[in-house]
Amino acid sequence: MTKNAPHLQAHENDLPKGIHRARALPDPALGALWDSIIMDERVKSQLLSQAVLNFTMRSKVDRTVIPLHGVILLTGEPGTGKTSLARGLAHRTAQAFSGGRFRLLEVEPHTLTSSAMGKTQKAVSDLFSQAIAEAAMTGPTIVLLDEVETLAVDRSRLSLDANPIDIHRATDAVLVQLDALADRFPNLLFLATSNFPEAVDSAFTSRCDLVVRVPLPGKEACEQILRDCLAGVGRTYPSVARLVSSPLFARCAAECVGLDGRAIRKMVANALAATTEVAMDPNKVTGEHLLAAAQLAKVSRGEGAKRK
Ligand SMILES: Nc1ncnc2c1ncn2[C@@H]1O[C@H](COP(=O)(O)OP(=O)(O)O)[C@@H](O)[C@H]1O
Ligand SMILES: [Mg+2]
Repeated sequence: MTKNAPHLQAHENDLPKGIHRARALPDPALGALWDSIIMDERVKSQLLSQAVLNFTMRSKVDRTVIPLHGVILLTGEPGTGKTSLARGLAHRTAQAFSGGRFRLLEVEPHTLTSSAMGKTQKAVSDLFSQAIAEAAMTGPTIVLLDEVETLAVDRSRLSLDANPIDIHRATDAVLVQLDALADRFPNLLFLATSNFPEAVDSAFTSRCDLVVRVPLPGKEACEQILRDCLAGVGRTYPSVARLVSSPLFARCAAECVGLDGRAIRKMVANALAATTEVAMDPNKVTGEHLLAAAQLAKVSRGEGAKRK
């Protein structure tokens, strides 16, 4: 617990409004998340390098030379691993500075948006200028802005009639605060995610130091996610692990192409619920169950379903 911001490590209920979690980094549980996301390693290392650079260079190079804001944005369809990656990245960044005492604050934008006019803007301003600024004063701080489209709404797409002016002001407040914090705290990094990049205000995107699009997993990644998931469940139910050597495995993996990582893992759960009997004893699952679940997921959740 630090003297300057004791509430940040206090009980969850005592956290400032808008912050739903605060934790010390590194945190091995988050390292496991980073490892669990299967994607192009070059993208992962690009993310890590950019995050590290934030903490090495920003305090040394003037913002008139490189106007860094300390914001990295991950965009992509729901279920592609953005939130997991962001949490894992926070851990890996702290780990890179061995011995550094980093802190991760997780912002829950939905709790800031209030139906009361004028309240959202104030809540956003207070969060950034007080809670986040206080944390940044005590040491290197990473802030997760999950589903940031809620906070930095694309103002050009909003009609003033249909949407309260409060939302516009909240977006303005985010931008003003980002500028102010970028000036004051080079040891602060925002990791933002968005499922709907087109809904994020362009002035916010323009302030991002790096924007990474997290794609749907490709063929090999799908197969690896499926393997990883079956192996994980297999630690409890050994027959599930053996599905990897089923003659149907390759077809199951091929059916997963077009699904996001979350859907692939949920599909495995669906296979384990193929019948009540299997659900009672998941060791009874067969390759046929897995294939049927994969085919069904493809129809109901695949790219075709997403495009409607
Ligand atoms: N590329 C991937 N590799 C492995 N697992 C993934 C991948 N993408 C998503 N997942 C799994 O899907 C779940 C949801 O991930 P999450 O980080 O919440 O996605 P998002 O924030 O993009 O909606 C997690 O359990 C995660 O492990
Ligand atoms: Mg998410």
